Order: sequence, then C-alpha cells, then structure tokens
Amino acid sequence: MRIDILTLFPEMFEGPFNESILRRSQENGFVEIVFHDIRDYSQDKHKKVDDYAFGGGAGMVMQIEPIALLLDKLKSERSYDEIIYMTPDGDRFSQTIANQVSLLNNIIVLCGHYKGVDQRVRDYYVTREISIGDFVLTGGELAAAVVVDAVVRLIPGVISDETSALTDSFQDNLLAPPVYTRPADFRGWKVPDVLLSGHQAKIDQWREEQAWQRTKKLRPDLLDEK
Ligand code: ADE
Repeated sequence: MRIDILTLFPEMFEGPFNESILRRSQENGFVEIVFHDIRDYSQDKHKKVDDYAFGGGAGMVMQIEPIALLLDKLKSERSYDEIIYMTPDGDRFSQTIANQVSLLNNIIVLCGHYKGVDQRVRDYYVTREISIGDFVLTGGELAAAVVVDAVVRLIPGVISDETSALTDSFQDNLLAPPVYTRPADFRGWKVPDVLLSGHQAKIDQWREEQAWQRTKKLRPDLLDEK
C-alpha cells in the first residue's frame, strides 16, 4: 500500500511514524508513506498558501492552486483509490472504515489547516472525508496520523501474530476481553484461574463471556449494531 500525505507540516508526523510498528511496516515494505509539503507547490513569491475567505469572516482558507498542482502531479504518476480529506465534518472514523481503507492500494490523505481548504478542492478532487471525532484540532495532521496508524496495522503481515488484529476491540462490535501476563499472583492480586487451566475451550468461552459483559457495561450501543 502507498499512502501520500499532503500537509503544510510534514515534521508533525516524524514522531509517530518513526517508531514501533509504523516504522517497521515501512522498513519491511508493507507500506510506503510519502510526505508532500503543500507549500512547495505555491506559485506565490512569498510561498503563500492561504488567503482571506471570500465574503469575509475570521480565519484563513487554504488556497486551491498549490493543492491542485500537487494532486494533479500525483494523479498523473499513478491512479489513486481514494483522496481522503481530514475534516471535523467528515464521516466519523471507525474500525469499519479502517478495514475498508486497509484494502486499498494507493491513497492520498490531505490535511487541512486554518479554516480548512477551498471548497473546490473538496468538490473536484476529494473522494472521501473523514473526522476522528466531534472536536476541532488545529489541523488534520494528528487526525491523519490516527487514521494511518489504525489502517496500517490491519495490512496483513504488519502485526506479527496474524490473528492479533482480528481479536481487537470493535472488530466484531465487541470490546476485547481483559488480558493478563506473568506473574500469576502480584501482591495477592490473582489472575482468573481459568486462564491458568490450560483448557482452551473453557478459556475461549470465558473470553467471549467477558467481552459480552464488558461491552454490555461500557458500550451497550455496540450491541445494538450486532
Ligand atoms: N481537522 C481538525 N479537526 C479534525 C477532526 N476532528 N477530525 C479530522 N480532521 C480534523
């Protein structure tokens, strides 16, 4: 999978994308993540990329020209399955959307700033708009990092234990059951006996029950969707 990220602040991604699973997934060739600085495509002598909104009002709007030039260049080089714009008024991100996006080959993720991008970018280029929740961030970068993280870990082979992503919370609209590791007894706080029993069928049944109980208690709305 190839992910092109269009941003005014490529450095914002350096931390999250250069550690742990996201770093290894790039080193091992499961995903290629390419950053593009939108400012590099500004035709303005001061490299300006934003301007006042027509009609007035507070806040700057990202201009269409640099974004269009960059998108035209990328689209002439390969075909893209989706051009995703990160915005608080997009579709609410979910495990279902992460699963869908993880099946694609080439995607573009566009990060907005200030008041967002000129509406014509959305009308003529963007194919999908995603929000990570009902709150407003300073820009789309952190939201894009969240989406890319959730998507990349679903690419087969990225997580070493192949079944691991399948047993995540939300994958079947249930929260994950509790997990424990050594020591079995810490200050008298004990691990449930069934997990030490070696009886796999019983362990599976216990996990399933725990997942249901947790979901019923913490997220009953998920059970309505099952
Ligand atoms: N940009 C600013 N806020 C955002 C949000 N909540 N989700 C996605 N992109 C955003």
